Amino acid sequence: MARAKIKLVLDRDYQLTKVDNRIFGSFIEHLGRAVYDGIYQPGNPESDEQGFRKDVLQMVKELGVPIVRYPGGNFVSGFRWEDSVGPREQRPERLDLAWRSTESNQVGINEFSKWAKKADSSVMMAVNLGTRGIQDACNLLEYCNHPSGTKYSDLRVSHGDPDPYNIKVWCLGNEMDGPWQIGHKTMEEYGRLAAETAKAMKLIDPSIELVSCGSSSVEMPTFPQWEAHTLTETYDYVDYVSLHNYYGNRSQDSLDYLACSNDMDRFIRTVIATCDYVKAVKRGKKDINLSFDEWNVWFHSNAADDDIMQNHPWRHHPGLLEDVYNFEDALVVALLMITLLRHADRVRMACLAQLVNVIAPIMTEPDGGKAWKQTIYYPFMLTSRYGRGTVLVPSVHCTTHGTSSHEDVTDVESVAVYSGEQDELTIFAVNRTLDGDADLTADIRSFGDYRVLDHIVLENDDLKAVNSALEEKVAPAHTTQSRVENGELISLLHKASFNVIRLGK
Ligand code: AHR
Repeated sequence: MARAKIKLVLDRDYQLTKVDNRIFGSFIEHLGRAVYDGIYQPGNPESDEQGFRKDVLQMVKELGVPIVRYPGGNFVSGFRWEDSVGPREQRPERLDLAWRSTESNQVGINEFSKWAKKADSSVMMAVNLGTRGIQDACNLLEYCNHPSGTKYSDLRVSHGDPDPYNIKVWCLGNEMDGPWQIGHKTMEEYGRLAAETAKAMKLIDPSIELVSCGSSSVEMPTFPQWEAHTLTETYDYVDYVSLHNYYGNRSQDSLDYLACSNDMDRFIRTVIATCDYVKAVKRGKKDINLSFDEWNVWFHSNAADDDIMQNHPWRHHPGLLEDVYNFEDALVVALLMITLLRHADRVRMACLAQLVNVIAPIMTEPDGGKAWKQTIYYPFMLTSRYGRGTVLVPSVHCTTHGTSSHEDVTDVESVAVYSGEQDELTIFAVNRTLDGDADLTADIRSFGDYRVLDHIVLENDDLKAVNSALEEKVAPAHTTQSRVENGELISLLHKASFNVIRLGK
């Protein structure tokens, strides 16, 4: 096979869009050990006076997560929010039908709003459109955002929070197209309900942004008719449509697995086309943008979860969806982030699903043990840290290969982000070939005398290497594989590696 090569021409004036930092969002659901044993564990020496784990908070802050979706997920479709506010001793224990768990409600809206502040983040709140509807969504919004002087705003005040939470982004239900969803709806049922809920919510607080439920995955039989139909109903009231998709090396074919970001790319393009079709039908002026509010690798834990869900009694926060990620999963997360950034003009928000213990970059050992970073922690952290700025439109020439289910797969995937504020250009690049190094060159003459500030690389000889509480096998390192000569960046990208090349003065 010929040596892999990518040639970029980057110009600081060829700009796609300024990145909305909410593209680096994440997700905490009342599921498994995400909340209890994850972010919240009173009595643990690592926890603060409110019971929040400080070690976990520190890792979340290092990741840089500007928005966190809450409280689900499938959980939200049976959620009774009033159970989760006010004096803790009065909160009821409930059955959570989505995850066959019992929910103590010791963490709820009040606590999560405080946790999000401590994590330097904001809340993306989902409302229950499964077992509940318009009135309940309005009550919750009034509780959270109305200053005072009404039943629900005064209830919040009486719960010790005089200032409104001012939650800006609200999801109109979760995966309502999925037959597994409690209160699953047809597109006709959901379209009307979502439109009327959205209309009422914007009457209460016109400053909020609303996300209409898109398909649960690209594989759903109703995709993309679901989007076309429901957005035609909700177009006037909503700002975003959601996308969800999880990836996995299910056939143990790593080369093909590393091409799965092409599937994400096609999914995004199809949803953009559908949004624009609806805009045309409605003779509309505004674009519906995309909130890719559940994305990640999820497949390692599937069999164990089925066992827990089917064969075990009801339990409080059983360990569910505890995928342990390997190095190739980290490469895939890097590839997916590059894909999201390349669509940053329309993908304005995205949530890595999820954040702690449940298909998560951050894990805590059971029984109050230490917190540790999974392999996927690092591509997220690096992209979130250095991917803030303006995505450039590059000219790209790249060699390609085929895989068992993908054609014309570029050997190297990349995106470049320019930060005028920092006076820095960062190139993110994954060499997704498994058998050879790649040469990257980039014409960066428009950046004057930029030089290499750093070349950070995530690589490992073993695609299946994992991290644990005891050992960190996959972590970024600094290399000297990049240099600038006469306005040209020349970099060596090792096989199967994620590279962050930072340039500046
Ligand atoms: O993130 C895990 C689950 O995946 C969520 O609860 C649901 O929305 C999706 O199917």
